[in-house]
Amino acid sequence: MKNVAMIGFGGIAQSHKNAHLRLEAEGKERLVAVCDITPSSFENRIKINIDTGEQSVEGSFNTYTDLEKMLASEEIDVIDICIPSYLHADLAIDMMERGYDVMSEKPMALHHEDCLRMLDAMRRTGKVLMIGQVLHFYPEYACLKRIVSDGRFGKPTSAVFQRFSGLPKWSWQDWYHDYDKAGGVISDMLIHDIDMARYLFGTPAFVECNASSKNVKYDCAHIAMGYDFPVTCIGDWSQNGARFKMAYWLGFEKATVILEKGKPTVYPNDGGEPYVPAEYEGGDGMYYQLKYMLELVETRKKNEISTPEGAAETIRIVEAAHRSADMRGERVAL
Ligand SMILES: NC(=O)c1ccc[n+]([C@@H]2O[C@H](COP(=O)([O-])OP(=O)(O)OC[C@H]3O[C@@H](n4cnc5c(N)ncnc54)[C@H](O)[C@@H]3O)[C@@H](O)[C@H]2O)c1
Repeated sequence: MKNVAMIGFGGIAQSHKNAHLRLEAEGKERLVAVCDITPSSFENRIKINIDTGEQSVEGSFNTYTDLEKMLASEEIDVIDICIPSYLHADLAIDMMERGYDVMSEKPMALHHEDCLRMLDAMRRTGKVLMIGQVLHFYPEYACLKRIVSDGRFGKPTSAVFQRFSGLPKWSWQDWYHDYDKAGGVISDMLIHDIDMARYLFGTPAFVECNASSKNVKYDCAHIAMGYDFPVTCIGDWSQNGARFKMAYWLGFEKATVILEKGKPTVYPNDGGEPYVPAEYEGGDGMYYQLKYMLELVETRKKNEISTPEGAAETIRIVEAAHRSADMRGERVAL
């Protein structure tokens, strides 16, 4: 059984912690320790824009504010990184070089060149690296991969992916509000949808990104993705009072698949009754993601679902979207 330690215990870490404790209760891992440089993070539970589940700090893990002390005191196999985005790359590389398998939250890094450094460290050290592109494990999105791959509804003919939220207000040192640390709505939130489009349809030939900046740089973005059918990703952080909402609408030759009331729903074009696809299993995507990471660590099998190479390619597309936004939506080839 592997020992896991988390670094960063802010907003999204609560969802990781709950999934780790569930895996621990199932005898699949031990969550031995958590490190956060802010001592109050162990007392004040943070509410973010999505449901992260139970907010209490139960469990038998030790808490640290000093990373070196944690590493020296604990037997650790896997490090789970939940710190701000601009800090992911250097910490992930450092941890792999010191012999740990690494799970790191998305975005892999803010710049593609840093992703390449991470991939290089992974290859040099032989360690497992997985990036938290968690939609690959959200049941309502995971089933799309099967639907597109097996062609049961024919070829895709159009797709719209949407992700809306108010501006994140809970963050340590307000890092979300700093474009150089979070990359605005494109690198932080819309990345999920850009990555899903890439996962389903491959790298687009180009992007055209129309973005605006109401409260922080690029807090609203609409991206036309260059496939041979229309695909659009829309993300908005600019409305302070807005609640979180995610959605998709995927057109195929024989049906439309719509995310509706939290479930994928198929609307057949022949007029048949709408239905939820049989393989939709429900459940917690974060739990499935961390369970899969443990399987990779235990078995060293090939990652077939959420590869770091894919996450890096997503950052290449994200960077192209930023360049396009800088040029007021001009086409940027990939
Ligand atoms: N998968 C998702 O849907 C999802 C949702 C929210 C956030 N995220 C990602 O998770 C990451 C964290 O976001 P958040 O909302 O939890 O941020 P946050 O500001 O709430 O938490 C970050 C925590 O990291 C701590 N920290 C900073 N530097 C540290 C260091 N060097 N060592 C140890 N602790 C350190 C801070 O004290 C803080 O408690 C970001 O990369 C974000 O993009 C992913």
